[in-house]
Amino acid sequence: MIRLLVNFLVAVIDLLYKNRPYPRFYVLETVARVPYFAFLSVLHLYETVGAWRRADWLKVHFAESWNELHHLLIMESLGGNQRWPDRLLARSTAVFYYWIVVLLYAFSPRSAYYFMELVESHAFHTYDTFLKENEAELKAQPAPQVAINYYREGDLYMFDEFQTSHQLSERRPSVDNLYDVFVNIRDDESEHVKTMIACQHPDAQNTFKSPHSVPVLGR
Ligand SMILES: [Fe+2]
Ligand SMILES: [Fe+2]
Repeated sequence: MIRLLVNFLVAVIDLLYKNRPYPRFYVLETVARVPYFAFLSVLHLYETVGAWRRADWLKVHFAESWNELHHLLIMESLGGNQRWPDRLLARSTAVFYYWIVVLLYAFSPRSAYYFMELVESHAFHTYDTFLKENEAELKAQPAPQVAINYYREGDLYMFDEFQTSHQLSERRPSVDNLYDVFVNIRDDESEHVKTMIACQHPDAQNTFKSPHSVPVLGR
């Protein structure tokens, strides 16, 4: 059922945005970070009622939402949000989608993580195809400043934090042109897939850690 739902949503967006890649990516990235907000909300609720506390999960999911925010800012800098119908579609879908994922995560966290694994895997393949089909044009265009700041110039704590399969500072990608930027976004999506798989592990409650984690009692 989850796979069918993802395929249906993807087919609708692909049809609506056939020849408009940046508005399409803008819509996808607006919606893409919503599940991380939903995970954070439910985890906060668990902490508030004293049911469960794992600070690392909050940190990593927030860093994932921060990463998706930067994908969104890049799409906005490329003009993806210029038309109001695209903004309306993205925002209204995101509000609706948030509550669906809150319910799914509250009742079955593993299903929610599986759902997100499929969504992130679709994002990876979407950007991979886009890179293959537009290599020459992308290499001829400059990287947006927001991408340069996020991947190279700024504080890279949050960039390292969402990559649970890497050691700190292991991934320092180039960001010399727009092609590099889309390679980085595609590779970020692949990191999200790996993290979503790690979160479904039967022993994840004990094994899943923030890359910056140091052993502290009570976390
Ligand atoms: Fe993304
Ligand atoms: Fe993503």
